[in-house]
Amino acid sequence: MAEQYREGKARFYASECTNLSAKLPVFYNPVMKLNRDVAVWVVKTLITKDVNNVPHEDVTSFGYTCSDSSKPNACRYKPKSICLGMEASGVRAVRMALEADAENIIANDASKDAFEAMQKNIELNNITNAVKASNKDVKQLLAEGNLYDYIDIDPFGTPVYYAESAINALSKNGVLAVTATDTSCLCGRFVNACIKKYSSRPLNNGFNKETGVRILVWKMQEIALKQGKVLLPIFAHSSNHYMRAYLKQVPLKEEDIKTKQGYILYCHKCLNRYVSQVMEGECCNTKMAYAGPLWLGSLWDKELLDEFSLIPHIREESLIDVPWHYDVHKVAKAYKKEAVKMDYLINALQKNGFKASRTHFKPEGVRTDADINSIASLL
Ligand SMILES: C[S@@+](CC[C@H](N)C(=O)[O-])C[C@H]1O[C@@H](n2cnc3c(N)ncnc32)[C@H](O)[C@@H]1O
Ligand SMILES: [Zn+2]
Repeated sequence: MAEQYREGKARFYASECTNLSAKLPVFYNPVMKLNRDVAVWVVKTLITKDVNNVPHEDVTSFGYTCSDSSKPNACRYKPKSICLGMEASGVRAVRMALEADAENIIANDASKDAFEAMQKNIELNNITNAVKASNKDVKQLLAEGNLYDYIDIDPFGTPVYYAESAINALSKNGVLAVTATDTSCLCGRFVNACIKKYSSRPLNNGFNKETGVRILVWKMQEIALKQGKVLLPIFAHSSNHYMRAYLKQVPLKEEDIKTKQGYILYCHKCLNRYVSQVMEGECCNTKMAYAGPLWLGSLWDKELLDEFSLIPHIREESLIDVPWHYDVHKVAKAYKKEAVKMDYLINALQKNGFKASRTHFKPEGVRTDADINSIASLL
């Protein structure tokens, strides 16, 4: 039974979503609104950032063209092409057209029902000039030889199976956005499944979601490197039951990012951790656990975040370049101390010369460049 919904500026039809299942003819999950909000924000921000910062003659970023070269700060750059490869109802495409003013959007889904719903929804929102519906296997669509400035892969489960095709179809400065809903493997509950899918070891500890996102980023980078391309994350988050990463193709060499890939060694006893290029280490007289290989660099392009407010704490945590955070409850337990209020601890860390902020990854998490002993001493 089709229902009419509203999300952002879009009105659209999709299957009734009370019993959510991948088998629904036209899948729509209202919980994923934030996923779409951020995707719309990314596209919109990349458009406006280029308007403000890039002189006409330098417009190479994100495949934009200038519509009025006589007005340096008033003209608009439009993405040449956007491919939303697994679109279901088309709500993401409709919202990008209406809210980010994006054009040349291909909204694709392999399901016939989804395709028909997308056609209807594109007409309903009067955006036939901006969005075209397509009904193909996403890999087939991406193999047709067109290059896209933004590709969105939003599957049930892992995006790994689609990544090679997507990266192959990415334009010179294009952005790849991927959702992973297989979080129980990326977060370390099913270690072997993660090793099999991502060729990387997860770690079930106080910062396991962040480690999962970093494994996802690393895996996309590795697939890109096989094609001689370098991807850098410009934004990433873990929300509800999924993880999401946005990676931009950049004119760097493999060796430029290799130093920021590696392992995190971790002691389950004292919660000490450090980055390493090898997976072996010792702490508290025992062999350390490890996660990786994974991405150790920043997850966010700080320049994009000036006015970002969709997910609390990402702006502040983006300023602290460490590949983990600390679960304050776990630190308190390990060191037999009382857990203090987060604001108190963050303040105390800052007063002691450390960087410190909350993290969007968990309410009891603090991102800081302080070591475990300094944190424990402040509890
Ligand atoms: C999680 S849903 C997408 C939700 C949508 N992006 C949104 O924001 O509402 C996954 C979609 O992928 C489609 N799909 C699954 N395998 C596919 C394939 N190989 N090619 C294209 N679409 C596929 C399914 O029909 C389903 O509609
Ligand atoms: Zn230890």
